[in-house]
Amino acid sequence: MAAMNSRQQKDDVIHYLVEQVNASDISSIKSIVNTIIRVINDPRATVKELKEIILLDPPLAAKVLRIANSAYYSRSFSRNFSEIEQAIIWIGSDIIKELALSQKVCEIFDRDEKIGTYSRKSLWTHSIAVALMTKMIFRKEFGLPGENAYMAGLLHDIGIIAEDQFFQDDFKQVLRLSKTKKIDMARAETETWDYNHAELGQAVVDSWNLPEELSVTVGYHTNPLAYQGKFSKIICTLYAADYVCQEKDFNFGASPIHDSLILQRCLKQITVKPHALDLIFKSMKAEMAKMHDKGLF
Ligand SMILES: [Fe+2]
Repeated sequence: MAAMNSRQQKDDVIHYLVEQVNASDISSIKSIVNTIIRVINDPRATVKELKEIILLDPPLAAKVLRIANSAYYSRSFSRNFSEIEQAIIWIGSDIIKELALSQKVCEIFDRDEKIGTYSRKSLWTHSIAVALMTKMIFRKEFGLPGENAYMAGLLHDIGIIAEDQFFQDDFKQVLRLSKTKKIDMARAETETWDYNHAELGQAVVDSWNLPEELSVTVGYHTNPLAYQGKFSKIICTLYAADYVCQEKDFNFGASPIHDSLILQRCLKQITVKPHALDLIFKSMKAEMAKMHDKGLF
């Protein structure tokens, strides 16, 4: 596809891709994400309600039991978990909500596909790492639960998945361009298509009627300083998490973001010291290793 210039052409392409996403398996995460958000925001949500969500999804139910039982083995409890409800109580509803969401998003990355050093699996691992790290920064640095932090991390690169699935030839070209010119994905995409995965991801999230906080975080995650509004904390936090994950062990095969000036300005805005970011990265990495041992990905 030749580079496009007009605003109308750009909107048409994004509209076309959003339609493709909503006619494909990817849209199956829409209902679970909406259900999970409702449960997260409802203080009266019960274990029974969570159990019902989990039972609709057999791979998720199996995972919940596996995690509960791995805790049972490591702590030498006197009984094994066979009931989902007991397992939910043992694991805790916060973790369960994250698991349910991760499982569903994982399914869209499911058919592993490799293009050079890119693979869907590495993008999935990257998304989990960014989700975990964004949440950890909220908890450790701000003392806030960051209800949408994990979800924003999981969904921030959903535009890349859409490009990979529906514009694969051009997507290969974008990956090559990112590598050869050593420019990040968003810049390579804009050179190829005149839009980037953040704008596309935001259009997908908007079509699912998810909260504005998720929409703008996905939409501005490659250009956080362009956003002026009430969600700049989560946008700058996700940028920092995404930056560090791409620089270090959780890249997905494109050239990492190189703009350390934006990183510095984001860290200043959220008042997080680079040293604190490094420490959180190490804790996140340890947490990822534990999740891997528990068979979570
Ligand atoms: Fe990312």
